[in-house]
Amino acid sequence: MKTVTGFSKMTKAEKIEWLAEQLEGESGKLVRNLPTFWHSDKALQKRFDEFSENTLTNYDLPFGIAPNFLINGKVYSVPMVIEESSVVAAASLGAKFWLERGGFRTRVLATSKVGQIHFQWQGSKDKLKAHFSEVRGDLLKAVAHLTRNMDLRGGGITGLELVDMTEQLENYYQLKLQAETCNAMGANFINSVLEELATVFRAGVEADERFEAAEKKVHVIMCILSNYTPDCVVEASVECPIDELGDFPGGLSAQEFAEKFATAVRIAEIDPNRAVTHNKGIMNGIDAVVIATGNDFRAIEACAHAYAARDGQYRSLSSVTLTGDKFRFSLRVPLAVGTVGGLTSLHPLARTSLAVLENPTAPELMQVMAAVGLAQNFGAVKSLVTTGIQKGHMKLHLLNILNQFEATPEEIEKAKAHFSDKVVSFTGARDFLKTMRG
Ligand code: MEV
Repeated sequence: MKTVTGFSKMTKAEKIEWLAEQLEGESGKLVRNLPTFWHSDKALQKRFDEFSENTLTNYDLPFGIAPNFLINGKVYSVPMVIEESSVVAAASLGAKFWLERGGFRTRVLATSKVGQIHFQWQGSKDKLKAHFSEVRGDLLKAVAHLTRNMDLRGGGITGLELVDMTEQLENYYQLKLQAETCNAMGANFINSVLEELATVFRAGVEADERFEAAEKKVHVIMCILSNYTPDCVVEASVECPIDELGDFPGGLSAQEFAEKFATAVRIAEIDPNRAVTHNKGIMNGIDAVVIATGNDFRAIEACAHAYAARDGQYRSLSSVTLTGDKFRFSLRVPLAVGTVGGLTSLHPLARTSLAVLENPTAPELMQVMAAVGLAQNFGAVKSLVTTGIQKGHMKLHLLNILNQFEATPEEIEKAKAHFSDKVVSFTGARDFLKTMRG
């Protein structure tokens, strides 16, 4: 591949042609085919193009619905965007299973977000601490023009402290900001406030006569929100008497199932190898709702996994208790999401997702996401400790395999009937098609 200058200045068609020319044969053809994924609605396409830089086309993912989520007495149909074939099916099954057993209970434990001004400063710690406590109020006043709207909505800055980090890194301090950002995820709000605070703080130190000349320089390294939000946490749980869990494949009784299920979750609490996969199952559900609603799945993922390791070992985000005859399964996860701002209002399908959820507040959306994560986790672990995961997974994957071989509708019907009582595998499906095609 050649290097290029001025790529971002080219038109979309020129970018595609340039890229296609760098590739040979089939690859070049694939690139020239990109315009077939453009929207026919030109205004809509322009909006998609402008979400990012150097856009060539759109990348489609399925948008589906998991109905029957009973959460705190209210029923939701939850929009999910995900490519993995079994995820929406598992969420829907989990929702239905718990619909018949009282549904999900959820509660938001806290919604606080964090931002940090990372800076280096050389001098007497005591003088810096005294300076900060004197100017703290003025610093907050200096950003009042940025916080006014958030204050009016019931949020705003809830904390600002000086953190001494000099033991870990020479001359390193932080101004740590805490904020409530209402229905916004809050990144723009927090970052704007931090940058303004840093300017005012730096000028204040420079102007303070009590500092020696060498102490007047605040060296700001960076101002940025933290995506680690252990104080923006939601809990979801389900519970029922063990004997109401039902009967399970393989002749497993409800009691045996409950014990096996609890052991599987316990394993994810003590073994990071299992915990990562276990939590990946939870995030299958959460990410799908995060993407459907136009939220930042990278932030959610990074935070969830850091939270899972908060005591120094990576562990399961969910847990089970078996008390007397009661089965209780619960999940705690940090979810800093928004229902206003960013992509939530710009992406037409994010808006649709929020409309389908009946325009929730951010805390309500956190609760829906946590319930879906728990349902997903329940579905995965239930399969793992009963039938095994491949049976259901490969059945749903069959269509993907058949589509890869461009199977006709009749071939698909025949293959579905053939595999209805057999284990699906890639080679099995391919060979079945081969035989059928003579
Ligand atoms: C697959 O996407 C997710 C699972 O591996 C989760 C789990 O093992 O709990 C099935």
